[in-house]
Amino acid sequence: MGAGCSKAAPQSSGSQSQAARPESKPEGREELQPVSAFSGISPMEARSVALFREAGRVITHPRCTNCHPPDDRPRQGMDQHVHVPAVSGGASGHGPPGLPCTACHQAATTPTVGATLPSIPGNPKWALAPVEMAWLGRPLGQICEQLKDPKRNGGKSLAEIQHHMAEDILVAWGWAPGLGLQPVPGTQKAFGELIQAWIDTGAHCPSP
Ligand code: HEC
Ligand code: HEC
Repeated sequence: MGAGCSKAAPQSSGSQSQAARPESKPEGREELQPVSAFSGISPMEARSVALFREAGRVITHPRCTNCHPPDDRPRQGMDQHVHVPAVSGGASGHGPPGLPCTACHQAATTPTVGATLPSIPGNPKWALAPVEMAWLGRPLGQICEQLKDPKRNGGKSLAEIQHHMAEDILVAWGWAPGLGLQPVPGTQKAFGELIQAWIDTGAHCPSP
């Protein structure tokens, strides 16, 4: 962006909805505590739960839960309002044939002009999570139990869940959501290490 053209054109601010404003602290990234910060906690079960709670700061963040809803309707923003315009994941999660997610969500994030609007998220795998993986509005303990349940986690082993959390490129979007959107805490590497340590300590869940 050139610095010479900073005078914004007058906006029809009356009609601009809450939904269209960039988030208040888009550049402020929160940190995750490292695995070592939990090594003094015993018994092991309590340590495992504490590790999952820390990872839960990512898992329950709107950047993740906006795409893991229970009702086939993605959400937007930190206030998690229903996606504007109204869209559904449909049977495939990629949207109904007439209006696939990729009609608007490109392979890479599209910044909006002048950063007066949130970026349009982009990712080659952009799609809505299936309903059995719904996290939105659920307590962390319940999300934890379903993450461990192959019937509700896409048939994954714990090692595969860890790999998905630590390596998946769609999950990675949460740390680089684009201008105007708050990233999830920490780094994907630190998040992957917390999940690994949670598994190594018995994968115990918080009580919902
Ligand atoms: C008609 C265009 C269009 C279609 C189709 C569309 N989206 Fe969006 N979506 C947008 C725009 C524009 C934004 C960014 C503006 C905003 O967040 O206010 C957005 C933002 C989002 C966000 C918000 C991310 C966040 O954390 O704030 C999610 C989640 C999302 N879309 C999911 C989907 C999914 C899943 C599909 C397909 C089932 C889909 N969208 C289809 C236009 C569309
Ligand atoms: C654009 C929508 C979208 C966003 C954003 C998103 N996910 Fe997902 N997620 C999916 C889809 C689709 C699947 C199922 C397909 C797959 O496994 O790749 C899924 C599956 C998963 C799974 C597999 C197992 C299960 O039980 O849910 C995990 C773990 C997961 N996501 C973690 C995350 C985390 C952590 C974030 C935020 C950093 C996140 N996701 C953000 C769409 C999304």
